[in-house]
Amino acid sequence: MKVLVLHGPNLNMTGFREPDIYGKKPLEEIDNEIRAAAKGLNIEVRILQSNSEGILIDTIQEHRKWAEAIVINPGGLTHYSISLRDALASVRLPVVEVHLSNVHSREEFRRISVISPVAVGQIVGFGAFSYELALHALLNLRKEIV
Ligand code: DQA
Repeated sequence: MKVLVLHGPNLNMTGFREPDIYGKKPLEEIDNEIRAAAKGLNIEVRILQSNSEGILIDTIQEHRKWAEAIVINPGGLTHYSISLRDALASVRLPVVEVHLSNVHSREEFRRISVISPVAVGQIVGFGAFSYELALHALLNLRKEIV
């Protein structure tokens, strides 16, 4: 299975910004954990972080034939980017929305996700492990594991 993993704005600062909320692991370490988990699950991953909404959208479009599923932590774009949502909807791939923090236990505005309606599900609050859970969820969706 081929999975595109995307990290949105400010996630390159993970480990340094608000570590009490987002954890102390730098994104590089999180990406290594994603790669290791993917290898163990026989999943091929491509991982990209961008602070630019346009680059995220271009990457989704460019991978529409390669990818069989998308795992995305859209960062702050979660809460307002209709363009990102439209890009995800347009490629007709299963999408899992991931957040390091439990967005539902924080500020009111973080409870709103314009991405969730075009995702198969949302995994929040488990820090870096949220991404690994997302990979399991995608395999389960394909009934490769139960
Ligand atoms: C986040 C939650 C968002 O509300 C926030 O803007 C982020 C990170 C998370 O992973 O918990 O940048 O997506």
